[in-house]
This record gives sequence, structure tokens and C-alpha cells, in this order.
Amino acid sequence: MPASDARVLIAAARRARRHAHAPYSGFKVGVALEASDGTIITGCNVENATYGLSMCAERVAMFKALSEGHRHFTRLAIVADTRAAIPPCGACRQILWEFGGELEVILANLRRETARHTLADLLPVPFEDHLLK
Ligand code: THU
Repeated sequence: MPASDARVLIAAARRARRHAHAPYSGFKVGVALEASDGTIITGCNVENATYGLSMCAERVAMFKALSEGHRHFTRLAIVADTRAAIPPCGACRQILWEFGGELEVILANLRRETARHTLADLLPVPFEDHLLK
């Protein structure tokens, strides 16, 4: 059962953002992923001194969710402290598509919701497992 209001999901993403480890970019991101049973799984970006091993908040949330047994998802909220809406990067879109499919992606800053998309709109021509056959 989905959470009643997108504001619940956005609030969870804002709280998760406080745990971001972003000393190199200074850009903190928080994510809240809603599983189809209503569970909310959060993530934040975790950077590394090598830079290249840094991990986006979206993938942290999705990998946490998968490792806890969730396989079906409905919505994702992404929060950053910017005026412009911050959509997920290309690598995260690909990961989110494989497990999340037709997710609703809600973007927000520290004050308000800034945009909404479907993941299908953000990744119109995905690479998918059936192409391997
Ligand atoms: N980042 C995310 O966590 N999610 C996004 O959607 C965009 C970028 C992170 C990666 C890096 O730690 C920092 O933000 C700057 O790119």
C-alpha cells in the first residue's frame, strides 16, 4: 500500500540527506524509495577519496532495498539543496529501471517539490535483460 502523501516520502528523503558523506563535491543528496508494500527505504550519496568509487544516493537506496528482499517499487523521492530539480544520473536511471520499472520519480529541494517524472520518460530507450537473448 503506497504512503498516503508524497510529502511523507520527500520528508524521508530530506532526513536521509543529512547522512550524506559528500566532503569532495559538497553536494548532498537524499533519496526515499517506496516499495509496493509501503516500506520506505532511504539512501544518501557516499563519496570516496578516489572520487570514482563514490556512490549516488539512488543506487544506495535501491541496493539497500534489494538486499532487504524488496523487489517491487512504486515511487522514489530525490532531495538536494538546489533551486533546480535534480533528476537521477544516467547510471542510476539504468539501475532503477531494471528493478523499479515504471517508477514515479518525485524531485524536491529543502522547501518544496520541484518536479515529477516517470522513469520511463527519463529513460526512454533502456538496455534490458531481454536484449541479451
Ligand atoms: N549525486 C547523487 O547522489 N544523485 C544524483 O541524482 C546526482 C548526483 C551525487 C554524486 C556525488 O556524490 C554528488 O552528488 C555530486 O555529483
